[in-house]
Amino acid sequence: MVGLGLLPAAPAGAFNLARSEKANKKVLILGAGLAGMNTAYELGKIGYDCTILEARNRAGGRIWTVRGGTTETEIGGETQTCRFDEGLYLNAGAARIPHHHQLTIHYCRELKIPLEIFGNFNEAGFYYSDSPKGALANQRVRAREIHADMRGQLYELLVKANDQKALDLPLTAEDADKLMTWLREEGDLNPGKHYAGSERRGYAVRPAGGTQAGEIGPAHALKDIVESGLTHPAFANIGEYTYHQQPVMLQMVGGNDYLPRAFAKILGDKISYGCEVKELRKTQPGVRVVYLDKKTGQTKEVSADFCVCTLPLPILKTVESDLSGNVKRAADFVPYMETSKIGLQFKRRFWEEDDHIFGGISKTNQDITQIFYPSYGFLGQKGVLKGMYNFHDRANRMGALSLAEREKAALEQGGKIHPQYKTEFENSFSLAWQKIPYSKGGWAEYSKSARERMYPALLEPDDDIYFAGEHVSHLTAWMAGALESSRRVVEMLHKRVSAN
Ligand code: PHE
Repeated sequence: MVGLGLLPAAPAGAFNLARSEKANKKVLILGAGLAGMNTAYELGKIGYDCTILEARNRAGGRIWTVRGGTTETEIGGETQTCRFDEGLYLNAGAARIPHHHQLTIHYCRELKIPLEIFGNFNEAGFYYSDSPKGALANQRVRAREIHADMRGQLYELLVKANDQKALDLPLTAEDADKLMTWLREEGDLNPGKHYAGSERRGYAVRPAGGTQAGEIGPAHALKDIVESGLTHPAFANIGEYTYHQQPVMLQMVGGNDYLPRAFAKILGDKISYGCEVKELRKTQPGVRVVYLDKKTGQTKEVSADFCVCTLPLPILKTVESDLSGNVKRAADFVPYMETSKIGLQFKRRFWEEDDHIFGGISKTNQDITQIFYPSYGFLGQKGVLKGMYNFHDRANRMGALSLAEREKAALEQGGKIHPQYKTEFENSFSLAWQKIPYSKGGWAEYSKSARERMYPALLEPDDDIYFAGEHVSHLTAWMAGALESSRRVVEMLHKRVSAN
């Protein structure tokens, strides 16, 4: 029928839930992040009466794009107001979208939000190892040099091992031959089966017009790469390898908050902003929620047939509730990631002009951990790059600093990679998610035992209270996790209501 044009084709990822007379239920949703808004959006389509309580004055939660005028005050911190120029932004939360995250892409399609490439992997990015020894220590080295030289020299070792019949592989002579051909190709070994550098690692003198043929630089010795610390996990090539970060990655044109803003616009006054949840009670049946309306300073109450709670666990644990012991235990003990970022505005896009870097990442074992170059606004006058994105201890150390100290540290550390920082810097905006009110962490970071012991409690409704959010998924730390979890709750709830 689709083929004959008698039925519209369902767009990939669209829900096919039938409206039901019984859907005439009140659903109270806690949190207007992606999970909460998607729940309201999808339940609303099939007839439920949804309202959302949101503590902040904006929707989106950890999908947060910082622009000129954005204000935030961290817990125990100073208030900062962003001074980026018009058109420049920092995705302070979710920044990159894997190409296989179908639901994220589905909602961008449905809500007509254009996507563009997010350069996550750039061979022109730099590696900078802060190290007491090594010929390549304390200097910037192009990623492509390390990648090409490591591959070349490791594959040469394998070829040598094979020639000495020391390769412990059950291969026929013919297959061994094929493998050796592949290794020589992949490693760019010369006819003598030796890696003697490669154009893949770039040129010391670039090829150009006329008589300038170009000169390939000498390979870095394996020993130097290792001794200088460049095989440390800080430099792992995950942008090429891991499923969630391999090319191609995407971002929303203009900032990733276009998705939450689109949901919020559709939901309109179904979202009550500035409402901080204080108590979550079971009324058997139904729920009652007590909240502080920050606009008036009044404490208010609201009741509903069902609740979908999307509060991040570090927030849920501060709410007085009738939740089951198992849910409370999960809220208390599931660890959350500490992670911090800084946006640095420069008056000149020197990374593009001087260093030929258009998007992608530089990596270092210093506390800033990485520098992300913007994948938008190429060739513009000014630019905002992400001068740090780190985790765990590094994020804690940076997060513990004052805003001015963070800026200073980011400029000092990043300045070792880009001396241009000194003359081109204009202003910054930094944040540490563990200190951001109503989030208190980047994302749920399940250990194996927390996943086994705590997670199951969040998967089932606790009487009439359901849970959604990236922490109720196996795609933690991704927008897709929030969306998948909410769709699951919508299905469960609708099935239950329809069956009654
Ligand atoms: N999704 C986040 C990011 O893109 C967090 C994350 C980092 C998730 C690394 C998985 C791996 O940075």
